[in-house]
Amino acid sequence: MHNITCMKVILLALCPLFAVAQWHHIIPQPVSFRKTDGILPVSKASNLSVTIDSLHSSIPANTYSLKILADKIAITAASEQEAFYALNTLHQLLHKDTVGQQYYPCADIIDSPRYAYRAMHIDVCRHFFPVTVLKQYLDTLAAYKLNYLHLHLTDDQGWRMEIIQYPALVSTGAWRTEKDGSRYGGYYTQKELKELVQYAAARFITIIPEIEIPGHSTAAIAAYPFLSCHGDSIGIPNTWGIKKDIYCPTDSTFQFIKNVLDEVCAVFPSAYIHLGGDEAPKAQWRSSKAVEQLMQDKQLADYEIVQRYFMQEIQQYLHAKGRQAIGWGEVMRGGADKEMIVMSWIDRHAGIKAAKRGNRVIMAPRFRCYFDYPQSIKEPLKAIYMTYLPLRKVYNFIPESARLTKEQNNNILGGEATVWTERIATETQLHHQIYPRIAAMAEALWGTNTNYNDFKKRLDKKTGGTPSGISPAE
Ligand code: ACM
Repeated sequence: MHNITCMKVILLALCPLFAVAQWHHIIPQPVSFRKTDGILPVSKASNLSVTIDSLHSSIPANTYSLKILADKIAITAASEQEAFYALNTLHQLLHKDTVGQQYYPCADIIDSPRYAYRAMHIDVCRHFFPVTVLKQYLDTLAAYKLNYLHLHLTDDQGWRMEIIQYPALVSTGAWRTEKDGSRYGGYYTQKELKELVQYAAARFITIIPEIEIPGHSTAAIAAYPFLSCHGDSIGIPNTWGIKKDIYCPTDSTFQFIKNVLDEVCAVFPSAYIHLGGDEAPKAQWRSSKAVEQLMQDKQLADYEIVQRYFMQEIQQYLHAKGRQAIGWGEVMRGGADKEMIVMSWIDRHAGIKAAKRGNRVIMAPRFRCYFDYPQSIKEPLKAIYMTYLPLRKVYNFIPESARLTKEQNNNILGGEATVWTERIATETQLHHQIYPRIAAMAEALWGTNTNYNDFKKRLDKKTGGTPSGISPAE
């Protein structure tokens, strides 16, 4: 479905981000950039050749080469994705001379990302964002050559994906009554999500849906009380924090989750499906006869092992469908299955442990990657768990760890910045949280984050400051 014309159209749509033309402000910084003599007037830029070398006889995998000569542009790319990145880089090189004539400086660029997994996340449960906002978010990801969007679709305070077999998940689960008595909520239809998947794919971005188990599941339990161990009718919370209602590890719950995942997989072709696994308090399991029986029958020694059993049951189902599960770092507590991809968020500890064991890992340690935390000391810390996350700290993020061998570090696929939305209710606030840190994250995940001052200069040229108008704290 991709072709070069289509890609150029998409890149033009991303143009406002790159509207200011000075010398040179490419983000993320390419791996190898050599300025050569001369310029190419924009009138000659249609003399553009793009060679896709999927056999990699002239270009390594994941790599593109962009040569701007005085009379033509030549791109060689390992795949259409790299051709898309080459056009993105070209676009960022558009200059204007003193009389307003546009040109490209001659240059020789060879470029490839260090990490295969370069992601942003968004929580659409605590606050809901319409498809139009998600499309703009995807445009921004594409502009920075990020290639995954982790879409957090289910949580205590709202279920956001239409599931045909279980209509109450959205008729009940997508709506909560706020403290002032107002109704708050929303959800995406499967049709909308399929369109979003296409929109992302046209920008070489994969959307990874997250369906949380066994915790963060109050909205689902409110819709279908049989999913809990107590079976009582409950409401959807309008407060934040970790909630006690979690799924009960029964056959009927497992069947429900598998049925949900059938629909999720039909909408999202992503090889990865996120299963959550974080912050699941076990109090309800401790007082459940069904869990006691399960522990006896299956010889499960403690409640973390019960969680492992739960995750594994669902993970194996996904595996049989050709998909791979991602779980938050807590999945290591009961000893995650080798196939589980571990997303380390509290700190790097779970990720390091997992990489040593041979699991694949995505690093998202909150002190570097949580964009709901404020970036400037001029702002208050809005929750007890927050700390300041200034731009420089994001920029210096390295997913790999000095505590791992080279081989173990190869298990680290990349990194991700999260945007939890308990305290992000509007699009303006969303932009305030992501800019300009998304640019720093993009350069960190491209692996060329070696010179913060140079990055700052490029960033200032690109945006004339930050879209949110704040100066990030140093
Ligand atoms: C998380 O922040 N609870 C993954």
